[in-house]
Parts: sequence; structure tokens; C-alpha cells
Amino acid sequence: MAKYPDIKTAGLRVNKLRKEIARLRELYHTADSPDVTDVVYDSLNRELRDIIREYPNLDDPNAPEYRVGGKPLPKFEKVKHTVRMLSLNDVFSIDELYDWEKRIKKLLPANTKIEYFCEIKFDGLAGTLIYEKGKLMLGATRGDGFVGEDVTQNLKTIHSIPLQLKGNIPEFIEVRGEVVMSKKTLINLNKIQELEGKILFANTRNATAGSIRQLDPKLASSRNLEFFAYDVKQYKNKNYIPDTHSKEHEVLRDIGFVVDKNEKICKNLEEVINFIKSFEKIRSNFLYGTDGIVISINELKLQEVLGVVGKAPRYMAAYKYPAERATTIVKDVKVNVGRTGVLTPLALFEPTLVAGSTVSKATLHNMDQIERLDLRIGDTVVIEKAGDVIPKVVEVLTRMRTGKEKKFKMPDSCPACLGDIDKKLISEKKENSVAYYCINKKCVAKNERYIEHFVSVFDIYELGPKVLRRFKDEGLITDAADIFSLDKSDIATLERFGEKSAENIVEEIKNKKRISLSRFLWALGILHVGEETARDLAQHFGTLEKIIENSKENINEIDSIPNIGPAVTKSVLQFFQDKNNLHFIEKLKENGVVIDKVEKIKGGKFEGLTFVLTGTLSTMSREIAKEKIIKLGGKISGSVSKNTSYVVTGEDAGSKLKSAEKLKIKILTEEEFKKMI
Ligand code: IVH
Repeated sequence: MAKYPDIKTAGLRVNKLRKEIARLRELYHTADSPDVTDVVYDSLNRELRDIIREYPNLDDPNAPEYRVGGKPLPKFEKVKHTVRMLSLNDVFSIDELYDWEKRIKKLLPANTKIEYFCEIKFDGLAGTLIYEKGKLMLGATRGDGFVGEDVTQNLKTIHSIPLQLKGNIPEFIEVRGEVVMSKKTLINLNKIQELEGKILFANTRNATAGSIRQLDPKLASSRNLEFFAYDVKQYKNKNYIPDTHSKEHEVLRDIGFVVDKNEKICKNLEEVINFIKSFEKIRSNFLYGTDGIVISINELKLQEVLGVVGKAPRYMAAYKYPAERATTIVKDVKVNVGRTGVLTPLALFEPTLVAGSTVSKATLHNMDQIERLDLRIGDTVVIEKAGDVIPKVVEVLTRMRTGKEKKFKMPDSCPACLGDIDKKLISEKKENSVAYYCINKKCVAKNERYIEHFVSVFDIYELGPKVLRRFKDEGLITDAADIFSLDKSDIATLERFGEKSAENIVEEIKNKKRISLSRFLWALGILHVGEETARDLAQHFGTLEKIIENSKENINEIDSIPNIGPAVTKSVLQFFQDKNNLHFIEKLKENGVVIDKVEKIKGGKFEGLTFVLTGTLSTMSREIAKEKIIKLGGKISGSVSKNTSYVVTGEDAGSKLKSAEKLKIKILTEEEFKKMI
């Protein structure tokens, strides 16, 4: 190794080495690793390590050489969150924002001064990071809010996530924020995906989730993800404790995080509304996907008082911007065959700019929708785009008609296989609303869409529509289960598929064989069972076997699950009673697919305890106190008896306090009660 006379000259060499190592890594990720760079890369890394051993002051824990993620993982480990990761309640208008304020004010002691804090709501994937003594120990996804996945390796490749904190370092801290992909990165990524015949990402959120929820950190590293920190949990620091959310943001900046600069402390709701309006003006030019503004009560003590209802805190609201709109002319209406055989009419038009990207088709959902809109080919229409790439038609400008517009009619047979079509009710609620289905079990388009859906739920990004079609044409696969028994040699012999790409495909499939029950149910493509319903079914039953068992006996346990109606029940029962479907599931299992069962959450610390509240509490309303008890698993009773566990007493407590004393029931002051919760 070359010797350096002093730290300054050594430092110059270290900078050069770091730059070149970063460049080679970039090359490695984007250009499929020419062998020579491996050797050069290792050697330069070795030299860097040697110099740093000699001059430890040149070490920088956040330098690029520490961001290597290591080998692909066999699966993600589950992580139980110490502090639950919540969702936000949406508000869709200024009026709803005022309603939110009214509800809050009712729950706080009269004349409480409220200060708000506004920040951007990024459209990405929530992540949580644990630091002990300043060092990054763990990074996880949100999951269901209670249990997430350990994605530390992938998160470590993101440059805006410090591996080592700086400044006033806390003993312990959990940092929450959003992993995002810039709009520009998504456009470039989709160009590459298209060239390689892979799945296109519908929006930055899907692309981010897809990059984080895959097992090879090399891939995550190539996706140019970023992290915006927005919250602090479990902060332990002897010298300083923030008492407002805005101060938490300052802490985050101080210790090395990127916190978006668009934020504001607001004295009242009018200032909040000004913030919302001024960001709306620059939103479409903002580098990242956003779907609104997060508004919080700034003071942490008040946040605690207001607490959480269901999945979301009462002290926060997400103001959602209305979707962006543009006008265009419908050139034609085409019919697409979906994975369940459903025929979806699509409006085609000249490429039109809306919400920062160019679109040339929009879904019309079904015939009903076309009739409701009275849409005809040649019409001028208003299209609307929320976060996704495919927009929808929301209005027809009938005044723009010339008389030459043509009505659209659903075809009499499937446009893909010419098979028969059947009509089914869309939902029990809408009596006249029907959807058209291709009923040919062997319909090519239907099967293709089904397999595409299947691999995308399994996050197998190597297999896009073009590759799948090729595999089908070559006879390598006939159904989605065949994917899991693909062999490297089968693929490598196909024209345009080298050894390397065959290896990548087989490796990725191998890594994705393990799946959660909810995603598996979603992948199965059961009619009416989307991502949300699949999650509800998984939560309720816990294992696939229980669902199959339930369907066999025709017990209508499914019907009793909240949010699940008779249409879903019928379709789930039908699906699991069909022998072909059970065979398909067996085949998947034989080919190595493993379905994880759902971990149930245990009861709270007040389980089995009954509380009685009496008198006026000074720091929280009675309603909030009740909620806290229920949330911890306890019960509330209106009167004191020998079954009462505790009586919580506020000011002017009356006869209930006397009964408690008589029955020798434990009495709690407000302070004691607050400590317990
Ligand atoms: S605060 C209480 N702040 O929005 C839990 N969330 O709809 C919310 N999000 O899961 C945390 N930007 O992924 C917060 N500045 C921001 C955010 C933000 C994006 C996401 C987050 C959360 C989801 C809830």
C-alpha cells in the first residue's frame, strides 16, 4: 500500500477512492456487472480500508462504502413494532377540515389554545428506523401497523438514511418517514422496464413498494430511492425532550435526516388553509408524488390527550387534494379482458397531459358507467387522474357535440377468444348494474391477465407481460403454478435469454415463493376479493386451511366479518368449493409456494378489568378516558359493585366514590390513572 506523509494527502486519496467506488457500484447496478469491475472494486475497497485503519479520523460511517446491502435474503423477517404504526383520517374539503377542528375542540378542556403544524403527505411507503447510540440497528415496513417486515438491508442503500447519526445524539430513537421515488426516477425506471418486457409501475408508490419489498439489496440500491423523515418515537435523550411536533422535525434535521422544507406552524385553521392552497400551486411541479397535506396538533401533550380511534390518531388529519383534470376527445372505445374474464371498456384518445404525465387511455369501468355518462365515440370528455397512471372519464361535455358522435355497444362475444359472454350483477346494492364476463375457461386473454396479476402480487418483477407471453408460447407455462417450477435450463435455451437473465429470473422466483396469507388470497384472483378484502379474510381466519374448511362445510362464517357482504361470501365459497381451484392451490404448494399464517394480536393490559369513572377529569374528557380503557382491553361500568376493579375519581366525585370506599374498591386519582394508561 502506498504511504501518505500526512492526513491531508491521505484524505485526498480517500476522496478519490470513495468517488470511484461509488461510480463502479452504480455501474454494477445498472449495467449487469462486467467481471473486471468486481476485481477492481474489491481492490479499491481494500486500499480504502487500509488507509482508514492508519488514519481513523478519515472514517465516515455514512460514506458510500458502508451502504452495501449484502447478499439477497431468503425471506424477510417479521418485526413487531414497539409503537404501533397508524394511518391517517382523510378530509376531502375545507368544510371537513372545520368539522375535524370542531370535533377536537369538544374533546379538549374549554379555551385550550391550539397550534397546528402542516407538512407534505408523501405518496410512498412508510418506513421506521431504530437507532441505538446513534447507530442504525433496524429498518422495517409498516405491514399491518402491528407487525412489519425487516427491510434493513434495502433501507441501508438509501443515501438519505443516515447509518450513523450526528449532532446531539439520543440514547435511543425511532424515526418514522416515507420512502419515496422521484417522479423523474419512475419515468426512467418504466422506460427500462418496458425495454426489458417487465411490469410497468402504475405510480411512484407502487414502484417504491416494489423496490423495498424485494429480497436483493442490489436491486433496491439501483432504484434511487429517497427517505423523508417526518416523525419521532421513543426518543431518549437526557439533555433535551421536544414538546411539539415542529421541534421533533428540528431534532430530525439536527441528527442528520432529510425533512422536507415545506412545513409550517399555523396559529389557526385559516393559516392551515393558506398553506394548503399555496402548496397546491406548486404540487404538479414538485419532484415527488404527494397526495395531500398532513395537519397535526403541534403540542405533543394535547396529542396524547386526544389519542387514537381505530387505526388513526384524532390529533392528525390528511387533507387530500382533488384529483387533477384535463379535457380530451374520445377516438375510440376498446374492450379489455381482465383476469376474472370481466370486459372493461377503455376510452382511447390523443396523448393528453394531465397531472404531470401524458395519458392516452382511461377506464370507463362498465357499460353502466358509459350510459350514466352518456359517452359516445367522438365526444369531448373530462378526464381525472389521482395518483395512478390510468385515469378515468368523469364527465362528457355534451355541448361540444357535432352530431357525428357514435354510441358504443358491448360486443356479443369475447374480443379475445370469441367465447360466450354472460352478464352478472355488479353488487347487490345496485340492482340494474351489470358487468359482462367472458365465460370461456380457456380464454387466452383472461388466462394471460390472471398470470400477470399473480406474478405482480408475488412481486416477481422479472416477469412482465412480454416475458410471460413468450413462456406461454414456448410451452414453458400453462398456468401460474408452472412459474414456480421453471428451470434455468428451460429459459436459457430460448432465443434472446442468456444464462445470466435465466439465472436472474429463476433466482427471483425462488426468493418470492414465500407469501403472506392476505397477499396469497389476493393473488388467487377470486371474484370481488381485492387487496383489502383479502386482508380482512386473512385476519379473520388466520390460515388458508381454515378458509377451505369453512367453505367445505358451507358455514357462513365469512358473512359475519365486518366489511364483507353476501356477494363476496358467495364468490369465496364458490371458489374454494371448486375442485380445479383446490388442485391449483395444491400444485402451487408442491412447487414450493409457502403461505405464512397470520399472527394474532394478544389482548391489552386492562384485559379482565372493569373501571368506573366519577367526577370531572381536568386533563381529558370522560369520553377519551373511556376510549383509552377500552383500547387497553378494559371494560367500563356505570355503577360500582364488587366486580369493579378501579374507580377513577375527578373533581366533585359523588356517591360512586362513597360506594367504592364502602366496598373497598381501589380508588385512582386522575394522575394515577394517567400513569396506568
Ligand atoms: S404522519 C399517524 N406524515 O401517510 C400515522 N404520514 O395515510 C401517519 N405519510 O402511513 C404518520 N407523508 O406512510 C405522516 N408527512 C407525513 C407523511 C405521512 C406520508 C404516509 C404514511 C402513513 C400514511 C397514512
